[in-house]
Amino acid sequence: MTGTNVPAVEFRSVTKVFGKGANRHVALDAIDLRIEQGEIFGVIGYSGAGKSTLVRLVNALEKPTEGTIEISGTPITGVPESEVRRLRRDIGMVFQQFNLFRSRTAAGNIEYPLKVARWPRAARKARVTELLEFVGLSEKARSYPDQLSGGQKQRVGIARALATSPSLLLADESTSALDPETTGEVLRLLKKINRELGVTIVVITHEMDVIRAVADRVAVLAEGRIVELASTFDVFAAPQAPPTRSFVETVLHNRPSAIELEVLRERHGGTLVTVDIDDRRGIGAALATATHADVRFEVVYGGVSTLQDKTFGSVTLALHGAEDAVAEVVAELDRPVA
Ligand SMILES: Nc1ncnc2c1ncn2[C@@H]1O[C@H](COP(=O)(O)OP(=O)(O)OP(=O)(O)O)[C@@H](O)[C@H]1O
Ligand SMILES: [Mg+2]
Repeated sequence: MTGTNVPAVEFRSVTKVFGKGANRHVALDAIDLRIEQGEIFGVIGYSGAGKSTLVRLVNALEKPTEGTIEISGTPITGVPESEVRRLRRDIGMVFQQFNLFRSRTAAGNIEYPLKVARWPRAARKARVTELLEFVGLSEKARSYPDQLSGGQKQRVGIARALATSPSLLLADESTSALDPETTGEVLRLLKKINRELGVTIVVITHEMDVIRAVADRVAVLAEGRIVELASTFDVFAAPQAPPTRSFVETVLHNRPSAIELEVLRERHGGTLVTVDIDDRRGIGAALATATHADVRFEVVYGGVSTLQDKTFGSVTLALHGAEDAVAEVVAELDRPVA
């Protein structure tokens, strides 16, 4: 964290069009975006939404068709290529397919950007040792990529991206080629880089679990537009845009869908009521509220989780009993908690 108000990345009305005539395709459409210093910012979207295009604009591998982009307050659009190259040195990049040199050892891969930056040999060796240790691969310094697991390869890729101490790290589908356990390892490493080194990280993914595990805030990209942008907690607790809801539904099963509600109604009868659970109203409190002399209830659906240190979820109850007594319980459960 730098304590300044200059954002790490700022897009102003950025549009990117590929092709011409019948092949014309608007990959990004008038994007306004501010990524703050020191945050882990997630970008989620389906295939073709424009995620990689956005990343390639940030590290100036592509130029916008319209609009301006600044990195830490410095424009990267409309400036000479030499300037762009200098700015790019402050940006690290991690790839889905690792992109390691097969003919170089882990240490050799990590050393490569330091050679390009003309670091003296002794300084390079010291830095590589430090980086191997930071990513937990000191024992694998002399191994070649083919001798490493997917997770180890990605840790080499991350160490290489960090070699020249960038202040911004871009990770485009950096865990998509990994199994769930290895994904967790890599995501924990990204978090450590953010917390211990203060590096701003942009995580691109199509998996909501990845967002949930690391992102402070998230933008949902659909057909080249940002359809939702909020804290990760808010996106999970109250998704607004339809694509966001679909993404959240892939990992949360606490609220019954319309079809599931039909099935529940058929199976349990009575009156179904879904109660939001959060830090102000836990499951116990909701069930205590449902307890009424003339009403019997059953928990028929639900789930509670923790995200960004806050509780959220819901329970669905089937209520049976006298009509007015049931109505009383429903009214009580529907009442917002102060
Ligand atoms: N160099 C290019 N030339 C023409 N079209 C392109 C080019 N790069 C991207 N596109 C198009 O722009 C759109 C967005 O592509 P992009 O790679 O940014 O999507 P994505 O969200 O990263 O998808 P995925 O999840 O599959 O990686 C796609 O329709 C793609 O075909
Ligand atoms: Mg992509």
